[in-house]
Amino acid sequence: MGGAGFEDHFDRNAERYERARPPYPPALWRALRELGALTPGARALDIGAGTGQATAPLVEAGLAVTAVEPGPALAARLATRVPGATVVNARAEDIALDAGAFDLVTAATAVHWFDLEVLLPRLHAALVPGGLLVVWRNVYGDPEAEVTPFRRGIQAIVDRRQAPPRPGPGELEVDRWRERLTAGGLFLAERTVNLRWSIDLDSARVRDLFTTFSDWTPEEADEAAAVADRLGGTVTEHYATWLIALRRAELAD
Ligand SMILES: C[S@@+](CC[C@H](N)C(=O)[O-])C[C@H]1O[C@@H](n2cnc3c(N)ncnc32)[C@H](O)[C@@H]1O
Repeated sequence: MGGAGFEDHFDRNAERYERARPPYPPALWRALRELGALTPGARALDIGAGTGQATAPLVEAGLAVTAVEPGPALAARLATRVPGATVVNARAEDIALDAGAFDLVTAATAVHWFDLEVLLPRLHAALVPGGLLVVWRNVYGDPEAEVTPFRRGIQAIVDRRQAPPRPGPGELEVDRWRERLTAGGLFLAERTVNLRWSIDLDSARVRDLFTTFSDWTPEEADEAAAVADRLGGTVTEHYATWLIALRRAELAD
């Protein structure tokens, strides 16, 4: 999956990305802990690491983290922000991985950028027997939440676009991703978690955050900020995060 120029998009906005993207909710880290994924000393591979929104808490939890990020500006920020991680500036599909080198692989709001046909067999080989692949994704605009005046304004901006809507139909749905991640039989779904959370954003943060979304132009992000200004300057956004924990399948020889 993925589209032309996405790496440029994130990379161009590296500083804004670090500033504006919200941290993952504490309940997500609790779920990872309950899964036994946060064992101090465990070796983790964080793919599509960006500026380290997942890498940093993994390092703080005491894991030995290798973080893979193809955008050079993002990778440089990541190395500065999380000096305890080993940063690899490359696509996850391209890096050399030793067999059984990792106890855990994480992909935080990144799974939609990977070529899973290439990646999943490589991750299967790189994980120890019984290793975990944990994939999660933020949905910026919880479809189950009340439709706020701000969301109506955002929808009006999106509706004016000529291009087909992105993310495309079904692309944010956890069930669909669980099917795709288990289809080849290399990974078994162990647990799915759905979280809902809210955050207050002022209009400057709205501009910054929406600019980081790869389907938003800077002009549209300005319009989103103007909507927030019209509504008093600060808006409450309702977001969702889903998580799928997958256990490495033991394959018969
Ligand atoms: C939406 S960001 C998520 C960053 C971070 N994990 C987070 O939770 O905020 C997706 C990241 O995946 C990276 N990415 C895109 N394609 C990739 C690939 N093939 N291999 C590794 N990372 C990739 C992008 O450069 C971007 O930094």
